[in-house]
Amino acid sequence: LMAEKGGYRHFMLKEIYEQPRAIADTVASRVKDGHSDVYLEGLQLDDEQLRQFDRLYVVACGTSWHAGLTGKFLIEKLARVPVEVDIASEFRYRDPLVTDRTLIILISQSGETADTLAALREARGKGGKALAICNVVESSIARESDGVIYTHAGPEIGVASTKAFTTQLVALYLLALRLGRARGTLDAQRCIELTEALLTLPRKIEEVLELDEQIEAIAKTFMSASDFLYLGRGNQYPIALEGALKLKEISYIHAEGYPAGEMKHGPIALIDEQLPVVFLCPRNETLEKVVSNLEEVRARDGRVIAVVTEGQENLLGEVDALITVPDIIDELAPVLMSIPMQLLAYHVAVFKGTDVDQPRNLAKSVTVE
Ligand code: G6P
Repeated sequence: LMAEKGGYRHFMLKEIYEQPRAIADTVASRVKDGHSDVYLEGLQLDDEQLRQFDRLYVVACGTSWHAGLTGKFLIEKLARVPVEVDIASEFRYRDPLVTDRTLIILISQSGETADTLAALREARGKGGKALAICNVVESSIARESDGVIYTHAGPEIGVASTKAFTTQLVALYLLALRLGRARGTLDAQRCIELTEALLTLPRKIEEVLELDEQIEAIAKTFMSASDFLYLGRGNQYPIALEGALKLKEISYIHAEGYPAGEMKHGPIALIDEQLPVVFLCPRNETLEKVVSNLEEVRARDGRVIAVVTEGQENLLGEVDALITVPDIIDELAPVLMSIPMQLLAYHVAVFKGTDVDQPRNLAKSVTVE
């Protein structure tokens, strides 16, 4: 079994470390350095069709839904088309507004999640076009969709999704580029810049993985907390949700993700000297706002764990734990920020002695409603 785990203690850790490779494989052959074309071999939609859509839905469950929430930012920004993100078990029962000008993007690692499959059938029944983002080749959702973009994460064994999630983010990035080019909202030069940035991602993830020991020490400091709050704004809000979900799933610590600006409308009441608050603060236009939220937490004696872009540490003032990640364009920062979230949850769970790869009550793929 140790051999299957490639020498790692758990599949989850092995899969966290596989991310540079998984992302490189998901990108490979789809973009070329210095080119503005994005090849998505299974898309089955030409530029003319990509221009026709007036609305997109992204529908998924669990971690895949969090990927979808990030996809909304990417697609709306780069392709300027409205995107609604929905949980599959909600979407399927609310008589969604689907026409022949609607594209429904189903995200599913396994391609077998019952609610997502049902949402796909509902949407196609109403005349919408369906595009799957799946990891498992020839899975039900991939087969029943009009087109498919495969993530090349390789088999994911750990129940808590890691490399499947970050490769979903990359697949959505590629799709956003393709949509933006087809719809004329993304010029060739900008597309080349975004492609170049994407090609640097595996190496930057390697750098974040080098923080493993530091994050393990942070996990040790905070493992006894009974609750965690995760805060981020904009495209980091879904990463806050995902960070909280990872911790809940494998360490059984209650955790909540929230948009940082919404903290004042509720979660602020929870802050005391016991509560760790994880702040996602990459360099971007809302950094100052996030820093002011961080100051509010500190003023109430909350314990701050901050993830920040290198060179920006001084903007934060005093924090209880600081994780520094390399600089990257804002569109890709969610991928990079996911890595410390995974490692933090992983190490807390290991310290707590839980069954990391097979957490209680959870299944890798939920094929019943
Ligand atoms: C289960 C798994 C999650 C996963 C979700 C959706 O709840 O435990 O890790 O995110 O299903 O799975 P899918 O295969 O559709 O992405």
